[in-house]
Order: sequence, then C-alpha cells, then structure tokens
Amino acid sequence: MDSAQGARARMVDALRRDGRVRSGAVARAMGTVPRHLFLPDSTVETAYADNAVVTKVVDGVALSSASQPSMVAIMLEQLDLHPGQRVLEIGAGTGYNAALMARLVGGAGTVTSVDIDEDIVAAAAEHLAAAGYPDVVLVTGDGALGHPAGAPYDRVVLTVGAADLRPEWIAQLVAGGRLLLPLRVRGSQLSVALDLGVDGLLRSASVRSCAFIRLRGEGAGEEQVVALDDGGWWAEPADPAVALPDRPVMRGALDRPGPETPLGVRLSAADVWDGLGLWLALAEPATFRLLARDGAAGSASAAELVEIGGARATLAVPGAGGFVAIVQDDGGGPARVRCHGDVGAELAARVAGLVEAWAGAERPHSADLRLTVSPRGAPRPVGECVVALPSATVLVEYLRAPVG
Ligand SMILES: C[S@@+](CC[C@H](N)C(=O)[O-])C[C@H]1O[C@@H](n2cnc3c(N)ncnc32)[C@H](O)[C@@H]1O
Repeated sequence: MDSAQGARARMVDALRRDGRVRSGAVARAMGTVPRHLFLPDSTVETAYADNAVVTKVVDGVALSSASQPSMVAIMLEQLDLHPGQRVLEIGAGTGYNAALMARLVGGAGTVTSVDIDEDIVAAAAEHLAAAGYPDVVLVTGDGALGHPAGAPYDRVVLTVGAADLRPEWIAQLVAGGRLLLPLRVRGSQLSVALDLGVDGLLRSASVRSCAFIRLRGEGAGEEQVVALDDGGWWAEPADPAVALPDRPVMRGALDRPGPETPLGVRLSAADVWDGLGLWLALAEPATFRLLARDGAAGSASAAELVEIGGARATLAVPGAGGFVAIVQDDGGGPARVRCHGDVGAELAARVAGLVEAWAGAERPHSADLRLTVSPRGAPRPVGECVVALPSATVLVEYLRAPVG
C-alpha cells in the first residue's frame, strides 16, 4: 500500500467513525478516488486531512476550494446516488466531488459539472484525466442557469452556497428528482436535500449544517455583511430585507454596554451559526450576527463573543437605539443577554425567553428541521415560519418542537 492509499484509508476510517460516511457505496468511492491528484500543489498529508483546501484566492477572497472531506461525505450521503443516474453539479472546483459522483453512478450514469471560471475548469479536466475519470462532462458557465443542454437530471447538486432556489435548477430535475444545495435561510447556511413532488413542491429529505463559498454570477444575491466601522466590527443580518439601525447608532451602542440578563446555557460556535442562530432568526427576523474581525478580534469586547474558527461572533437583535447581544466569558459559565445603547429591558427579556425556549426544546439544530419549498407560481406554504427567497417561499418547521 503506498502512502496516498494508506492516508486515504485512514481518512475513510475516521469519516466512518464520526458518522459522516454511512453507506458502503460512499465509503468505497472515497476509498478509491485519489484526492491528492485533485490537489497537485498540496502534500499527500494535506490532501487527506479533514480540511477544506483553498485553491483560488483573488483580492484576499477565497473563490474556489476542495471542500472538507467530512462535508463531501455528508452531502454524498444526502444525495443518495445510484448506478445509472444523471447528475448535474454546480461548482466543479478541483473535480474531486465530480469524480466521486462518477464512481457512484458508474458507467451507465453521467456526471456534468459546471464552474464559472475557465481556469478552474481547465485544471479540473487535468485532475479528472489523471485520476481516471475522463468521462465527466465539464462546462464553463454560470451555474445559476443550470445546464439545460444535458437536462433532465436525477440529481442537481450545488457545492457552492446559494441564497435562492433558482427555477432553472428545479426545471432541470426529473419528476421525483433531488436537488441538494447549501442554502442560506435567515443567515444560516443549510445543506438541504429537496425532493421534487408531483405537486411541484419540494420537501426536505434531510438538512445539515454547512459553510460554503458563495455563488458568484447572476445568482450571487446581495452582499450580506455590513461594516459597522473601519476597525473590524461587522453585522450580518439574518434577513437582508430587514434594515439594521444606522451604523453610527450600532457602533455607538457597542461602546455602551448596559444591564445583563443571565441565561442558563453556554453556547458553542455551532449554536451561534446554526442551532440557536436559526431559532432566533426565525422568531425575530431582525436578528443579526455581530462579528469581530481583524483589529476588533483581539479586543476586550470581542473576548465575550463566541470563538468561531479563530474569529469571534455572537447573535444580536436590534432595538430602536441599539441592540441586545448574547455574550459569555471565555473561562466558562453561562451566557448572558446584554443591552447595548438605548434598548429597553423588554427586548432583553424577549431574547432571553427565546434562548430559554430553545434550550427547553433540547437545543434543536439543522438536522431537526423540515423544509417545504414552494417555487414561484406554486401555492404559498402555510405555517408559522415562512421565509421568502427571491424565487421561492420556504416553510421551516422543527421536527421536535414549535418555534418559540
Ligand atoms: C467549494 S468549490 C467546489 C468544490 C468542488 N465540488 C470540488 O470537489 O473540488 C465552489 C466552486 O463553485 C464555483 N462557482 C461559484 N459561483 C459559480 C457559479 N455561478 N456557477 C458555477 N460555479 C460557480 C467556484 O468557482 C468554485 O470552484
């Protein structure tokens, strides 16, 4: 066994142990496709570590990467591929996931993979040829439009984050087909597997947490992160349609901490990004994530935010003259709701009540969600939490508990 083979086998064993790889088919595919040939500039060790590897950066922004093997495995399990199926991937990147899918659908199936950048497609073609998957069809284009020439597909999968459900992706699916995509819902990115029903609605078969690079091109949507100052404080509204208070009000409120309400919970990065973050944003669409980056990341105020991959962030809800934020100390102890600026105690009490309701519901997160999507033109779903996207409405329900 050469060193790449050994590293690959260890990667698959670890992914199985962690429950990321569940099926024999995905284990065999990930145990066969040589990831290091898709990352020719990385060492074998890097290629088989459970990390995303950024492969293209422009002006400090990562535009392409080989996704983290855990995430690749989670999405392949969600996709549920079978021999003979026709698949469209949007976001070819290195070509690694396309090769895995080609292996899963076999010689009787087809994989078409689209990327928006010509240089990325050219490199993916080299990798796929070197790894023995020359039959994957690569297309340079804007995946927002899908690839109608090869439609219909049994599966359409995005490996890049979307803020909308484009009608093109749905139109290019066979009846009963599955669309899998990282979808932004009220500020949380969810990997959602959606099955197209005969009634034209799409219903989730599974939902997982994820963090993908954003779609570029026609479907990019608006920039969602707003700078509060030049020092590194940012706000990311959960619902871009809900305006935040003026930046000077927000920045001023940051420097004016007020009364605190203790909470009975301690929060992890996943809670801020996914579980509690989504719960709050579904109940309070004005929720935003307060982010401390660069210069602000090392400040005393940032130390009370939750550590997320070396950066700091927390959840906050605006009021007329400021906001309330959830803070906690590094050294342990439960989180608190803190007023900033001129906000009343009622807002703090409301947010504290929502956090307690989430904890009381056993801290539900993405895997506890069910989504029902009505594309534009289909009957609008009815329910407590209906989220409007540009081309569709999404009914979001918790499988375990109602939204507080
Ligand atoms: C996370 S990478 C995909 C990883 C890839 N599946 C792999 O196995 O290496 C996301 C890719 O989406 C591409 N992308 C971004 N916007 C796109 C668009 N509108 N259409 C097609 N591809 C796009 C980026 O260029 C990038 O290569």
